[in-house]
Amino acid sequence: MSAVIKLGGSLITDKSSPRTVKWDSLNDSALQIYKYYKENNAKIAIIHGGGSFGHYEVEKIRKSKNVIDPFSTSLIQESMLTLALAVLKALIDVGIPASLHPTHTICKSNANDCNYFSIINDLNNGLVPITYGDAVFDGEGKIISGDDLSVQISNLINSDCLIFATDVDGVLDEKGNLIREIKRNHYINVINRDVFDVTGGIVNKINKAFNSKSNNIRIVSGKKIYNALNGEDVGTKIINL
Ligand SMILES: Nc1ncnc2c1ncn2[C@@H]1O[C@H](COP(=O)(O)OP(=O)(O)OP(=O)(O)O)[C@@H](O)[C@H]1O
Ligand SMILES: [Mg+2]
Repeated sequence: MSAVIKLGGSLITDKSSPRTVKWDSLNDSALQIYKYYKENNAKIAIIHGGGSFGHYEVEKIRKSKNVIDPFSTSLIQESMLTLALAVLKALIDVGIPASLHPTHTICKSNANDCNYFSIINDLNNGLVPITYGDAVFDGEGKIISGDDLSVQISNLINSDCLIFATDVDGVLDEKGNLIREIKRNHYINVINRDVFDVTGGIVNKINKAFNSKSNNIRIVSGKKIYNALNGEDVGTKIINL
């Protein structure tokens, strides 16, 4: 079995408070992943988002200079690496042989333009690679979305599932009820609560998810990662037919 899991910044950080890790959620996610990993001897790649680290840093920079210059890129990278070390620690603490691959060391300008060799190599050797949404400087500062990286890696390894874990039950309709499945080209009415997200929030996440070829693509609550990995009908299923 192979799985790609995106730990959303909404799940592992407090988006309302700069540079704040939600350790309880992060540790609980790590335990669920470990359980599945052990039970299935699964190949697992983990990607995480920016939350109150990257998104906060980018917002601050955009407000003050409106351009991501080399120094700003460095600040975003430092902020994301700090969060990545927290994720690495949480995974290692439960016994997962995690290995960190900073995105800016493998990607040039976007998630299609990366050298995933070291990640694939780790997967083939029984490690659990982690990478994350990040900033790169390629003539100008660019943000590489963790959602895009997740889709790319899922396609590269033909993963059985691609799970986007967040702090909500899945995609919610305008009344706040869970939408159980979303088909390509089906218009859906979602609420879009104003949570800052420099890479586009939930609607963009849905559109990106359609680019994965996986058979089990879901946007789920962080509390249901284990269930989603086991193919249970939790959260919102993205049907990419
Ligand atoms: N209709 C909706 N359904 C579900 N979530 C929604 C909806 N509208 C807005 N949201 C917000 O979108 C968030 C999930 O997407 P978002 O991109 O902000 O988080 P994330 O991907 O977990 O974080 P990051 O981008 O830092 O990884 C939820 O925390 C929720 O508050
Ligand atoms: Mg996001």
